[in-house]
Parts: sequence; C-alpha cells; structure tokens
Amino acid sequence: EERCLTLAIETSCDETSAAVLVNGREILANIISSQVPVHQKFGGVVPEIASRKHIENVIPVVDACLKEANVKLEDINHIGVTYGPGLVGALLVGVAAAKSLSYILDVPLIGVNHLEGHIFANFLAHPELKPPFVALVVSGGHTSLVHVKDYNDFELIGQTRDDAAGEAFDKVARVMGLPYPGGPQIDRLAKAGNPEAIDFPQALHEKGNFEFSFSGLKSAVLNYLNSAKQKGEEINQADVAASFQRAVIEVLVHKALQAVKSVGVNTLVLAGGVAANSALRERLNNECEKTNIEFCYPTPILCTDNAAMIGCRAYYQSRLKEYSDLYLNAVPSLKL
Ligand code: KG4
Ligand code: ZN
Repeated sequence: EERCLTLAIETSCDETSAAVLVNGREILANIISSQVPVHQKFGGVVPEIASRKHIENVIPVVDACLKEANVKLEDINHIGVTYGPGLVGALLVGVAAAKSLSYILDVPLIGVNHLEGHIFANFLAHPELKPPFVALVVSGGHTSLVHVKDYNDFELIGQTRDDAAGEAFDKVARVMGLPYPGGPQIDRLAKAGNPEAIDFPQALHEKGNFEFSFSGLKSAVLNYLNSAKQKGEEINQADVAASFQRAVIEVLVHKALQAVKSVGVNTLVLAGGVAANSALRERLNNECEKTNIEFCYPTPILCTDNAAMIGCRAYYQSRLKEYSDLYLNAVPSLKL
C-alpha cells in the first residue's frame, strides 16, 4: 500500500489542533493547543476570544505538528478540516487555513463533520475496529446515537431534544461553583459521593425512545441546591455530583444498549468529550460484558477535540474522492 499523508486541522471550539496521519489510522503527530485557561475566568467559551486565539495559534500549531511528525509540507497528500458543527468564527479560521494550504500545495481539500470525527477517534484507538456498529456521541454540543453502517454510511438513531450531556455537566458544575469545563470536575468529585443519595429525574426513559433530554435534570439539580440553601441545609457536593452523574449515565447506558439490540449489531463505541467520563466507561464496560457486546472507547486525549480524529475521517472520505472545493464554508449547525 502506498503511504498516504493526511494533514488535519480542527478549530471548531476552544482547541486549536493539527495532526498528521499515515493511511488514515496511524498518528504521526497530534498537537492540541487548549484555550481552556483563557476562557476559564469567564466560566465558559467566549466565541470572539476563541476566534482570535485560533488566528494566533493555527499556523504555529500546524508548524509544530509537521515538525513533530518529521514531515515536509510538500509531502502532504490531502488536507482535512472541520467545517461544522461549531462556533462560526472559530470554524472559519481552520477552514481558511486549510483552503490556503490546499491551494498552495495543490492537494485535495476535505471538509469534515466534527461529529463524524468524534466517532472516527475510535478507529485510531482500536486498529481492529470495523463497521457496522452503534456510536454513542456525547460531547459539549451533542448527544446522539448513530448507526455506523460503513465507513461512509451513517444513520442517526436519536439525539437530544434540548441540552447535550456535556452541556448539562458544565452547567451543573457552574452552579456548584466548579471551574470550566465542569465535566472532569464532576467526574472527580463524584468518586467521593453516593450516587443514590439524591433521586434526580431520568427523562424519556421509556423503551424504544432514542431521544434524550437533559434540561429537566439540570433544573432539578438547580432547584435542589437552591432549596437546600434556603433551608440552611448543608450541601454534600460529592453526593450531588455523584447523583447527577448517575442520572445522566443511567439514561445513556440504557438507550445505547437498546439501540445496539434494535439495530442488530454487536459493537458499541463511545465518542465525544463526555466519553472521557470514568463512571460512564466503567458502567458501559460492565453492561456490555454481561450482554456480550464489544465495547470501544478512545483514550481521553482522543475523546475531547483533536485534529487526529478529523484526519481519520478525512482519509475515509478521500477514498471516495469526497473532496471539497475552495468555496468550502463554515456550517455552524451542520448535521450528521
Ligand atoms: O467533544 P468535546 O471536547 O467538545 C465538543 O465537541 O463539545 O467535549 C467537551 C465536553 C465538555 O462539556 C466537558 O465538560 C465534557 O466534554 N467532558 C466530560 C469529561 N471530560 C470532558 N464530561 C464528563 N466527564 C469527563 N471526564
Ligand atoms: Zn467535539
């Protein structure tokens, strides 16, 4: 097989990332420049600041990536870039950089859907993984169950009606006074808490429903904290974190396993930032073991936003010659 080098760029939210891959599945370099410290003092991502930081960072990050991969720009065979979903100003920076490079180097440009990229992180973490499978994509912006029938053939099984799972983690953490991003904070705090201490609601739990809803749970946690404060009761932060996390996980696990059965596959893959959650991984691992379902998840660094997953997706699009032209634009609300 010939050696195909993919350069990938990801700037959809608050990480500026560039990666070089060989034949789609081997990572030579995956540089991630996080803006978390910049946004932390605002309690969340400030879109305008994110764009400005991407502008400053994108070329240095691409340079650092090529250097680490020990690859020359002229050796790159094609360029993949996230064009949505995400923050429009942030996406535009990556798209402009990728278009310029594609034009200068005269190599194909490949626009990549960020959510598909999250799913493809699993191909990097598991060399033997092949479709078909069901993917549970849980990130800051999305909560979706996807039937991945083939490398370029997906069907949405269900998604959230309101908040994403990661968004719920971040919002609950914020009202608990924890720093942004809240997911890892709640994950850590929950380890010391009792998940059965507080009975928070689990929405749309009925059989055959593959939609999610987390806004009610978020409000329930808020109400719990407010009423405890009013009554002057002491709040056990670890119990709140563990009980909230349990309510999220129960619904995710239940629906993911049902989707696997209903679609008739034997493999479940976890994707997106919330896939880094230790309790979710453990719970899904146990349930899948019991029911003889193959279970895959990426390493934490490949769960949260990174360009390697975008490069992997781009590679499989290139095999179908699914190229973009120089009119490629950011699509903030791009669907799967
Ligand atoms: O995929 P990602 O990096 O960005 C989006 O595409 O949204 O996901 C970020 C989300 C944030 O909401 C963050 O709080 C959550 O993933 N997250 C976690 C954990 N690590 C990151 N949520 C729960 N537990 C974690 N360990
Ligand atoms: Zn993401």
